[in-house]
Formats: sequence, C-alpha cells, structure tokens
Amino acid sequence: MSQQRITVIKGDGIGPDIVDAALQILDKVGCNFEYDFADAGLMALENHGELLPQETLDLIAKNKVTLKGPLTTPVGEGFTSINVSLRKRFELYANLRPVLSFKGTKARYEDIDIITVRENTQGMYSGLGQVVSDDGSEAEAMSKITRDGAEAIVTFAYELARREGRKKVTAVHKANILKSTSGLFLKVAREIGEKYPDIESTEMIVDNTCMQLVMNPHQFDVIVTTNLFGDILSDLCAGLVGGLGMAPGANIGKDCAIFEAVHGSAPDIAGKNLANPTSVILASVQMLEYLDMSDKADNIRQALKEVIESGDRTTRDLGGEHGTTDFTQAVLDRL
Ligand SMILES: NC(=O)c1ccc[n+]([C@@H]2O[C@H](COP(=O)([O-])OP(=O)(O)OC[C@H]3O[C@@H](n4cnc5c(N)ncnc54)[C@H](O)[C@@H]3O)[C@@H](O)[C@H]2O)c1
Repeated sequence: MSQQRITVIKGDGIGPDIVDAALQILDKVGCNFEYDFADAGLMALENHGELLPQETLDLIAKNKVTLKGPLTTPVGEGFTSINVSLRKRFELYANLRPVLSFKGTKARYEDIDIITVRENTQGMYSGLGQVVSDDGSEAEAMSKITRDGAEAIVTFAYELARREGRKKVTAVHKANILKSTSGLFLKVAREIGEKYPDIESTEMIVDNTCMQLVMNPHQFDVIVTTNLFGDILSDLCAGLVGGLGMAPGANIGKDCAIFEAVHGSAPDIAGKNLANPTSVILASVQMLEYLDMSDKADNIRQALKEVIESGDRTTRDLGGEHGTTDFTQAVLDRL
C-alpha cells in the first residue's frame, strides 16, 4: 500500500510549535505518513505575496487530507478569511467539532462528550447578497439553505452517530421565526431522522439550546445545525470543557478534508513555548479516525487524557507550569 501523504500547513504565531508537537505524536504511534509542507496566512503573504498561494491549494487538492495550524488573517480591507475561502473552494460542507471534558481542567462539568455537526458553506455565512446602501443607513445579506445541503449535513450527522455508537441526534433550528430557511432545514432533519430508527431524534430551538447546554449539557450527544448557529453553539460547547484550547475541528467535503485547531494564532504567546498543543493533537486524532486508523487515534486520546488528568507537565492554561515541549514529551512518554 502506498504511503498516505498529508499536506501540513504549520500556520502563524503558535502554529509551528503546536503542529510540530502533533507531528511528533503521529510519528511516535507509527503512522508512517509522508508530509508535504505548505504556506498559508501571514507566512505565505511574506514569502509569496499572497495569503493562499496556488501551490498550497494544489497540495490540498492533491493529497486530499490536510492538517492545519491557526492562520493570521491581516486586519484591513481586501483580506477575506482564509478559512472561509478554503471551506468554499473545497466544498467542505461539514464542520465537525467534538468536545470532551478532562478531569482536573477548567471544564464546567465532568463527562461531557458532545459533537456539533455544523453546516459549513450555506446559511448566513454564504456571503450572498451583502449590500450596504450608499448612505450607510441600511445593510442586508442573504441566507440560503438548499434541500441538498440540508440533506447532506443531516445525513452526515446520523451516519456519524451510527458509526460511533452514539444514541441521539438533536436538530437545532429557529423554524418558529426563520420559517423559510430554518423551516426547510427542520423539515429535512425530520425526514432524515425517520430513516434512522435506531437513533433517538430530537429537535430544539436555538435559544433554548444555549440555555440547556449551560444548565444540563449531558442531555446532548450529537447536535446538527446550520452554519451560524453551529458556529456559536460549538464555541459554547468548547467553553463547557475549558475553552478553545481543548477544541479541535474537522472540515469535511466529499473528497477532501482539513483538520485544524479551532483557536487562533495567539500572537501574545507566540515563540514563548507556552502554547497548549491539545486542540491540534485532537485534530490529528480526528484525522486518524477519518483515515480509518482508529486504534492509533484511541492511543493518542488516552495518552493525552492521562497527561491532562494527572497534571504531569501541563501548560499554564491547564493550571500547570510547563511549556509546549514538556507537555508534548509527557504525551510521547506515555505512547
Ligand atoms: N482557525 C484559525 O486559523 C483562526 C481562528 C481564530 C482566529 N484566528 C486568527 O488568530 C489571530 C489571533 O486571534 P485572537 O487573539 O482573537 O484569538 P486566539 O485564539 O489566537 O487567542 C485568544 C486567547 O487564547 C489564548 N490561546 C489560544 N490558543 C492557545 C493555546 N493553544 N494555548 C494557550 N493559550 C491559547 C491566546 O494566548 C489568547 O490569550 C487573528 O489574526 C485571527 O484572525 C485564526
């Protein structure tokens, strides 16, 4: 069998440190990947004069699997978000954001294990119909949901639930007010849910979902929802388990996937060996599951859990006194 090639974008700020940590761990468990390194973000702007060079896009398309560190989008007009550009270009329609609580961290609850499956290309973030009147007094934007798009994301959520032995899928919507867009999403969610009698299907209005997540998160298993609601709810879920440093994200399309840390490039701690590499390590765990390498994924997740829960060489955001390299070594020692 030919070796799996992975495109690696180390990213900006703390990106290179935390991605190097993840690569050491992948190598340690014997993944035997070949890596093609590519630039994007600030680094690419400095080296190639553009945020997303064609060479990088070609490598993402060629290898089909990418591990990506956080990217800095320069502030100012003329720079569109690199992440949004990548999702659109490669039709990465599913954004998968799992959260898992570890004992001994700032997690608000124990035993949280929730996956948000967010539609990644439509709804309020499609960028359609953005108009501001000449005098600046009115602004409008279009939200568009298609039946195909809703079917794809809801089916993705149920298939994931079945594959992972999960029990329940909750469709989150605002169909009582947004009758056309959220209404279509809910209609499709109900139809698809009927095809999966082995999985409990529930539905919840988005504002109530926010309150329920804070007060009684254990009722949730898989959440499936539209783009804007998924963006907000998945950050809320990350807050339940100690913040964005603990949250990975997978962007999955029909034949291409990008796995990433959810947080940004943290310029305030860049180059200081202070960053917690957990989210990008968990993103590489998601990548292994996508590649049907679940044994190796489980090994890494278990080692990470032992390090975080024992407090052995943890980083400052986790209450420890160590840096990225010590934390990584603690995980490597357990593998
Ligand atoms: N996925 C991405 O590529 C992505 C996501 C969000 C922001 N960004 C970019 O990142 C830059 C900085 O954004 P920001 O400051 O708003 O958010 P940020 O997530 O980079 O940082 C917010 C706070 O969290 C801390 N933090 C983040 N990750 C950490 C880690 N792994 N370990 C320890 N502490 C960590 C930072 O030190 C900072 O105090 C911006 O240019 C933004 O555009 C990129």
